Order: sequence, then C-alpha cells, then structure tokens
Amino acid sequence: MSVGSQSNLEVAHPLIDDTDALGSWLTEIRSIINENRWTTSEIIRAIAEGRAPREAIKRWSMEYHHYSTIATANAFLLLANAPDRQTYWAWGRNMAGELGYLGEPEHLTLLAELPKQLGADDEQITSIVPLPATLGAAFTVSYYFRRSFEEGLAAGVASENMAVEAMEVLYTGLRRHYGIESRFFKAHIAAEQEHAEIGLQLLGKHAGAAALRDRMGRAILNTCLTKRHMWSACEIFLT
Ligand SMILES: [Fe+2]
Ligand SMILES: [Fe+2]
Repeated sequence: MSVGSQSNLEVAHPLIDDTDALGSWLTEIRSIINENRWTTSEIIRAIAEGRAPREAIKRWSMEYHHYSTIATANAFLLLANAPDRQTYWAWGRNMAGELGYLGEPEHLTLLAELPKQLGADDEQITSIVPLPATLGAAFTVSYYFRRSFEEGLAAGVASENMAVEAMEVLYTGLRRHYGIESRFFKAHIAAEQEHAEIGLQLLGKHAGAAALRDRMGRAILNTCLTKRHMWSACEIFLT
C-alpha cells in the first residue's frame, strides 16, 4: 500500500508560504539526517560487523531500552496536539505499532528481549544507571515532543529517519555473527521505513511557514546531535 493512499497527506497545506523555500529546507533537513545516520556510528557498525563483544551489545541494548522507555511515552503527546485528523490518524498508526496493536508485540517488550538474549534479567534492565548521554538524547527528543506539535513532529521524524537502514543492518548482523534473532529489529525493518516516509510527508505538510521551519530545524539538529552522541558514548562498552 502506498504511503499516499494510506494517509492522504498530499493535500496542500494552506499555511505553506513559499514552496521553493520549503523544498530547499527539506533538502537541508535530509542532509542533516544523512550525516547523523545510525550506520555512521562505530557502536552500530561494530555490532553489524560482529566486532562488538556480547557484553557490549547487552549494555548498549539496555541503554537503548532506557532511552526508549522515556522517548516513546512522550511521543504520544503529538496525538493530543495534532492539528488535524489526517495527522492524528497518521501518527496514531505509528503509536499503535508501538503499543503492539498492529500484529506484533509492544515494541518496548520486543526491545527488552535483546539484553535478555544476552544474559540480562528484568531487574538489570529496569535498574540500570544510564549514561548521561542516553538521558541527554531521551530528554532532548522528549522536550520537543512536549514543546509544540511542530517541533515534536520534527524531532520524531529526525529520530526515525536516522535509524531507518540500521534496523536491517542490526538485524542481519546480530543473526549472522551472534546467532541472535532480534524480533525488535525484524519488526522495524518495514515499520521504520513506513514511519520515515510518512513522517517526511507530515514534515512537508506542517513546515509551511518560515518561522516554524526555523524552530523545527533546531529540533531536528538537536535531536540528531544528542542521539549521535548517545551512540558515541556507548563506544565505551567496546573497550
Ligand atoms: Fe518501534
Ligand atoms: Fe518508528
């Protein structure tokens, strides 16, 4: 099913003041996201290539889980603040997947399976003291989720787009090099692609005014910087 037919987001937004400016802004946004893709981070590459010790993957996945328990819950605020029914529906579908209503289990439960496959128990997963960088990334994206619909959307779209191809890379690497079948990454190969595409359409729809684009661009940049720094900080587990 095409994204357009799912969401009918191609309808022009009345607030768009300059189509050319919007186009070049979206190009700039894509390049910020490209520079900060998960697959450019050493911790992600080490796991994908089988160079990361199993203990490092266990610790990394607990950081990721801790981040997600904060960030995912805050993403639901966009539903309450959605300015129209199409956007409400499109973001709601994303959130329905998070909660496990789209034919696979709840995503936080799926994510917690990975450290367990590497020997962690529930107590360890819920009681970890996270890296400050993990809190920085989780609180940054959550700040934008809470600050305004437009900045929250921008932060969410950046977050999902920078992760897209890493889902398959991590799924394949974990299976090939460690014999680990990760249901979380498997579920996200297609889901994150859909979220990224719909998210970019929503971005184009809601970034019509120049003043909004400035604020959304800052949300995207700060989300990318802090998430990338979180993965850089996780390199400590490789040594
Ligand atoms: Fe998810
Ligand atoms: Fe997603």
